[in-house]
Amino acid sequence: MSFKLAIVGKGGVGKTFLAGTLARLFANDGKNVLAVDADPNMNLHATMGIPKTELPTPIGEMKELIEERTGVPAGTSGMFVLNPRVDDIPERFHISRDGAKLIVLGTIETAGGGCICPESALLRALLSHIILKRDEIVIIDFYAGLEHLGRGTSKGVDSMITVVEPGTRSLDLARRINSLGASLAVPRRYVVGNRISNEQEENFIVNASTEFDLELLGIIPRDPSIIESDIKGIAPIDFAPESPALLAIKKIKYTLEKRLAP
Ligand SMILES: Nc1ncnc2c1ncn2[C@@H]1O[C@H](COP(=O)(O)OP(=O)(O)O)[C@@H](O)[C@H]1O
Ligand SMILES: [Mg+2]
Repeated sequence: MSFKLAIVGKGGVGKTFLAGTLARLFANDGKNVLAVDADPNMNLHATMGIPKTELPTPIGEMKELIEERTGVPAGTSGMFVLNPRVDDIPERFHISRDGAKLIVLGTIETAGGGCICPESALLRALLSHIILKRDEIVIIDFYAGLEHLGRGTSKGVDSMITVVEPGTRSLDLARRINSLGASLAVPRRYVVGNRISNEQEENFIVNASTEFDLELLGIIPRDPSIIESDIKGIAPIDFAPESPALLAIKKIKYTLEKRLAP
């Protein structure tokens, strides 16, 4: 089984929790998994159970590599190689935990975001390579939406999950991300409701998904053991593998597998 899954949504909704837990769960099944941290906050390692001290430098901060591959020093502008070689990078610079691999990209500037620098060119080329060429399960923890994907790359994304919490702002953003996903031709676009405390909140998510024509893949309850795992610095899957939120993610994984089955 191989697919490319993008996890998106507003800051703080639970993207990293879902992405890291799914990566570990698929790896537990013996699948090849590459988790990609594409959020500038760079904390996917924590929900995968990889200590910060063991993390390699984010690719976007590897100055020698950037210069070697693009032909110009990081942080400069000017003429650089637009299609740098990247195919060896995932194998060289990942770190694994229980069979789940992690690669940390670091901050990717968008083309509209000011600088078009060599580090961003390298990161975009790498992301594109991972999505289009790697034959494994790829789970990408994004910052907000899919801004970093060009149309050519986004076509390789099999599905995206927008994580939402009960609240109009998170749903409004979900709707916008969903239309962006549609315009980028991402074929399967799902919503997962997270941190749900009661029936009223669950109904809010269910009704809003129906109204906005978003497919709801599952609901994750608010779960104190997830907060506790964060405070203790232990991955939720290691700290509370049978907690309600973890069981909900296992169910979401199962539904996702059924949807993605050929
Ligand atoms: N279902 C949940 N129950 C309780 N706490 C949660 C739940 N999901 C996420 N959290 C907590 O909320 C915070 C934000 O989650 P995180 O995954 O980092 O969000 P994002 O990546 O979208 O910014 C974290 O401290 C996390 O432990
Ligand atoms: Mg995050």
